[in-house]
Amino acid sequence: MTSISEETESISRQAKAVVFWFTGLSGAGKSTISEAVSVEMSKLGIQNYVLDGDKIRRGLCSDLGFSHDDRTENIRRIGEVAKLLCDAGVVTLVAFISPYMADRDNVRGILDKGKFVEIFVDCPLEVCEQRDVKGLYQKARKGEIANFTGISDPYEVPANPEIHLRTDQSDVSDCVKKIIKYYLHQ
Ligand code: ADX
Repeated sequence: MTSISEETESISRQAKAVVFWFTGLSGAGKSTISEAVSVEMSKLGIQNYVLDGDKIRRGLCSDLGFSHDDRTENIRRIGEVAKLLCDAGVVTLVAFISPYMADRDNVRGILDKGKFVEIFVDCPLEVCEQRDVKGLYQKARKGEIANFTGISDPYEVPANPEIHLRTDQSDVSDCVKKIIKYYLHQ
């Protein structure tokens, strides 16, 4: 049987669970920052989980490609998983390109008010392309990868994100601080 204090702690944890939705171009820093936030939150005793495009696409969404419809379905599924985790009291850190505003807004719509925190991981295409950590931009430029976001596929910039990070101007630890501060003061 749980004690009253344990129950109270669980209730407050649930009340504080939110979905941090990192959106931005490939190479903008979504995975790096979400992982760093996860480490910091774990140190603070905040239960959290990272859902990352590159990993989820190997499992839950391995049947999907990068057409508009497939990306929409990808984001719909992740939105539902994020909602479940959030309902369970887990701060959910979601790192997907999620290029379409309507898809992101649909996820916002299935969550309770204030639970969807959109984080625009903003980095100019030129910088992402220069970084080209996975060598995908080069392949996209050569035409070896079709529908590549930013090159041959659109990215719809968030109109009013709760948090706006400029990853070409600030380092990872500054971005992490900004997110933790938002979480603690919401
Ligand atoms: S999303 O558009 O549906 O949100 P998601 O975040 O799951 O995309 O996957 C993006 C990752 O898939 C990129 O970081 C990159 O490693 C890889 N990828 C492979 N093909 C493409 C493509 N055509 N466009 C964008 N990313 C691609």
